[in-house]
Amino acid sequence: MKKIEKVEALKILDSRGDWTLEVRISLEGGFSASASVPSGKSVGSFEVQTVPAETSVDIIESNIKDKLIGESFANQEDFDRFLLSLDSSVDKSKIGGNTMLALSAAFCKSCAKSLNLPLYNYLDSIFYPAIKNLSMPVPIFNVINGGLHTSDGLDFQEFLIIPAKKRIDENVELGHNIYQTLRSMFNAHNLPTDVGDEGGFAPKGMTTFAALNFLVGAGKLSGYKAGVDFFLGLDCAASQLVMGDFYKLKNEGETYTAAQLRDYYLKLTAKFPIVYLEDPLFENSFDDWKILKRELKGKVDVIGDDLIATNSVRVDMAVTAEAVSGVIIKPNQVGTISETLETVKNCRKNHLSVVASHRSGDTTDIFIADLSVGIGAKYLKAGAPARGERVAKYNRLLEIEPEIGA
Ligand code: PGA
Ligand code: ZN
Repeated sequence: MKKIEKVEALKILDSRGDWTLEVRISLEGGFSASASVPSGKSVGSFEVQTVPAETSVDIIESNIKDKLIGESFANQEDFDRFLLSLDSSVDKSKIGGNTMLALSAAFCKSCAKSLNLPLYNYLDSIFYPAIKNLSMPVPIFNVINGGLHTSDGLDFQEFLIIPAKKRIDENVELGHNIYQTLRSMFNAHNLPTDVGDEGGFAPKGMTTFAALNFLVGAGKLSGYKAGVDFFLGLDCAASQLVMGDFYKLKNEGETYTAAQLRDYYLKLTAKFPIVYLEDPLFENSFDDWKILKRELKGKVDVIGDDLIATNSVRVDMAVTAEAVSGVIIKPNQVGTISETLETVKNCRKNHLSVVASHRSGDTTDIFIADLSVGIGAKYLKAGAPARGERVAKYNRLLEIEPEIGA
């Protein structure tokens, strides 16, 4: 790769108004790109640590920049190995996973530019160089927000619309139509249409059953049939519901054991066309996950987010435990692009669904959309079909589809 000529770091604001890090890397010949990092609110215990954006800027300015300028790295792995050599801690607490990701992604983007390749093509080429992995993911839309992404909202964090149309434009159209109809329905029911961190509506005191009924109803009013034109998904973010040995579902007025919560999921999935359950149980309860997955009989994708934290070793643990059928991929849970790709490879090897995902605090950076295409992810989860930082990702898919053909 071309020599690095310039490294610039600055703090910028994210969608929650918190400071985050942006890095620009310029390669010789004027090939320059910037990347910024998102941040989670329901952060899993197995994610790498971050440092404040201001600290990242200081670390890059005083410790990293001079080591990079004038250097040329053979490829992304070579660059990421350099980053990892700066911080040998398991949780990347010395320089911060956020510092690593901004540098790693900025290098990746500037290399794509220097090769005159769209980012998704470049990511495809470094993922499995010998084969084409490109395909369009199904965009999934978080239209009702709860949990930590709201104040005092629904028990579960995300109520997802999973479109079943063929093309991205049709799927985005479906998400858009249902979201707008939901707004009208909430207005008609005198429910607030304030939104949560990911742009979905954030009613208070509503049960999960009622929220799912609203989704089916909004689909119908928009001219779509649930179970045919679209399906439903939930990110339960169950680690946030844990109280002692129990799960507390305040809107149901219930406190469940793991077995009772599993029964509750069986009821939900029997009544609604749910095909996706993310983090249904605590982030380390592999045995409970295994039982739930078996009880759902392959009819529902059981997706590990906090359980896996984009960590290849934890993919191995989940495979051994037969705990999941799919995995959330969030680069900032692990640190570098190379480690992210390694985790995706492990998912592929084990025939697990791959779900590329934004974070609840995000920026207008579209890296995750290109990544979802480059690795041939099954889904891209980027929040509601509304709010600038969310639609940036869906709009990027709309741009890419005509370029690669559906
Ligand atoms: P987070 O939420 O970014 O706050 O972790 C997203 C998710 O749990 O999928
Ligand atoms: Zn999640």
